[in-house]
Amino acid sequence: MKVLLTGGAGYIGSHTAVEFINAGYDVVIADNFDNASPLVLDRIERITGTRPTLYELDVADAAAMDAMFDKESFDAVVHFAGLKAVGESCAIPLKYYRNNLDTTLTLMECMKRHGVTRIVFSSSATVYGIPERVPLVEGMPTSCTNPYGWTKYMNERILTDAATADSELSVVLLRYFNPIGAHESGLIGENPNGIPNNLMPYITQVAVGKLPRLGVFGNDYPTPDGTGVRDYIHVVDLARGHLKAIEYAAAHTGTEIFNLGTGIGYSVLDIVNTFSRVNDIDIPYDIKPRRAGDIAECYADPKKANEVLGWRAELGLDEMCRDSWNWQKNNPGGYTLD
Ligand code: WQD
Repeated sequence: MKVLLTGGAGYIGSHTAVEFINAGYDVVIADNFDNASPLVLDRIERITGTRPTLYELDVADAAAMDAMFDKESFDAVVHFAGLKAVGESCAIPLKYYRNNLDTTLTLMECMKRHGVTRIVFSSSATVYGIPERVPLVEGMPTSCTNPYGWTKYMNERILTDAATADSELSVVLLRYFNPIGAHESGLIGENPNGIPNNLMPYITQVAVGKLPRLGVFGNDYPTPDGTGVRDYIHVVDLARGHLKAIEYAAAHTGTEIFNLGTGIGYSVLDIVNTFSRVNDIDIPYDIKPRRAGDIAECYADPKKANEVLGWRAELGLDEMCRDSWNWQKNNPGGYTLD
């Protein structure tokens, strides 16, 4: 089977490419490298022995997309391409709506023209907004608290309505919780531009000496130690969830939603303390005020993915912390020429 990964040179896309190649799929990556490095292709080849076919393009460019679909006969698409920084989306919302919706609409129109009927979409637990209760179940209400989240919500709607109108279409919406970690080789990993917004890359940059101290955003939440609780999932477990999703899409039509999480909530201080213990590195931190838009607790009920997809997260927090550090210590500047 030949699968297109839009945004496949990114953090989750590259890990998914590795798992798909190892499972025997023919992988094609389309990426404009806005938020990824071309070096990722070399690293995927070093890990798997296979170099994915690459198209450097903007997924919103219909002509370029048609040319690629004319040349390749895809069996399915995994759609990662999109801007994904919550804070940035509040500063430049129009760019987020234009980019994240245009890419999806252009891709869906192109798939229709070329008779490709299976798509797995990279959605996010952020569509649950401020949850009334946890753990989160797929049928719970959705509402967003930032433009990035709304683009994920709107893309879910676009794909769902497309599948309602076209009985041959198969849409799988994967709601990610908090992906962290890296491939055990340390060759691919999270490579944020500038100062990291997310917790783990900030911790690893403190550990490697790029940043002096971690700011813990609030310790007065109604949680066991007062700091925010999230469902951290190893990026390799997340990537393997996409394999199960593609198999599911091949055997079904219509739209299905799955939470990809471990079902376990850990606090910020749990992450800091586990990282320090596993890697024997002290992470200095200061308690700071709460970050605007943050919620106290967010973790998944992964029962549906466990039972329907036959997928379960298998890697624990120790492996997530070990592998995050292994990537960062081997790539202190991220993807740079070897
Ligand atoms: C986790 C916890 C912070 C940084 C976001 C997006 C979500 C998804 C994952 C894309 C929170 C605390 C963080 C720091 C801190 N992205 N924190 N100091 O906000 O749960 O989710 O990333 O799909 O859509 O919303 O992740 O890693 O930013 O924060 O104390 O320097 O760590 O308050 O409790 P978040 P995060």
